[in-house]
Amino acid sequence: MTSYKELGLVNTKDLFKKAISGGYAIPAYNFNNMEQMQAIIQACVETKSPVILQVSAGARKYANQNILKNMARGAVEYAHELGYDIPIVLHLDHGDSFEICKDCIETGFSSVMIDGSHLPYDENVALTKKVCEHAHAQKDYVTVEGELGVLAGVEDDVSAEHSHYTQPSEVIDFVNKTKVDSLAISIGTSHGRAKFKPEQCTRDANGILIPPPLRFDILEEIEKQIPGFPIVLHGSSSVPIEYVHIIEKFGGKLSDSVGIPEEQLRKAAKSAVCKINIDSDGRLAMTAMIRKVFMEKPDEFDPRKYLGPARDELKKLYSHKNMNVLGSAGQA
Ligand code: G3H
Ligand code: 13P
Ligand code: ZN
Repeated sequence: MTSYKELGLVNTKDLFKKAISGGYAIPAYNFNNMEQMQAIIQACVETKSPVILQVSAGARKYANQNILKNMARGAVEYAHELGYDIPIVLHLDHGDSFEICKDCIETGFSSVMIDGSHLPYDENVALTKKVCEHAHAQKDYVTVEGELGVLAGVEDDVSAEHSHYTQPSEVIDFVNKTKVDSLAISIGTSHGRAKFKPEQCTRDANGILIPPPLRFDILEEIEKQIPGFPIVLHGSSSVPIEYVHIIEKFGGKLSDSVGIPEEQLRKAAKSAVCKINIDSDGRLAMTAMIRKVFMEKPDEFDPRKYLGPARDELKKLYSHKNMNVLGSAGQA
């Protein structure tokens, strides 16, 4: 058993309290490998932002949990070496069973998500409650994120054809019964790089897809039910069109890509939304740069020569998010 405190990590409790009163959101960036982790830490140190390093079940399988644990320890030391100690959370993204949450807690995660959103309501309550009881009973309190409502889109182990918005009438009961520390809700965001079907969108003069707006009315209703309670938005990549264009220019094909506009995320970050999940945008940035190097320098075969530019682009992307979208810059 490794406690997250031994790794120099923190849970989300204080971070969320400050984010709600300060009107900003903490970035939750997914990572699977060293370059992503380095870019996240470089950007968050430079912009003085707290950060949630997020690991999906798929990432855990890909990278190995002990390696990830030591990467998180490395992230803490790296920030220190770069000259500024930012708060760093290691969080399980979309845990789908009590066992995976327990396992992560034993490996040094400071926060876990139990995603029972696909289950009938009472089963979601029972599973989330069980994880909370276990996580909160640890010597060092581990925070738990639950989810109510279903996002459309596909992730490794979670997929849904249609979204179901969170029902504001359920949130008080869910929070009281489970004792979760934060709640992921569904107000129209969705996972992946093609968040809406073209027929759900309009188009601007250049033919670029414009998505339907987020349901801020549902968010407001939820905030009325549980004032000041930490709310989480998944599926919050903006899918920058510049990256899609670079990828397509250099041989990729990503038709019908569309994300959540930045101004809507900025608006959400000013509310009780205090954690915003971003994965797909990082994938796009990396892929764009790697494809560019492959096409422009066909004789290049040193991985550092394409992973290096990908890392630099990722850092730019994360800094931009912290400064201009989430408002977390300067809050560490
Ligand atoms: O929403 C979750 C992330 O995008 C994780 O994706 O399961 O493919 O690692 P993954
Ligand atoms: P995106 O696919 O929009 O980046 O969402 C990531 C996410 O919600 C991770 O849990
Ligand atoms: Zn998610």
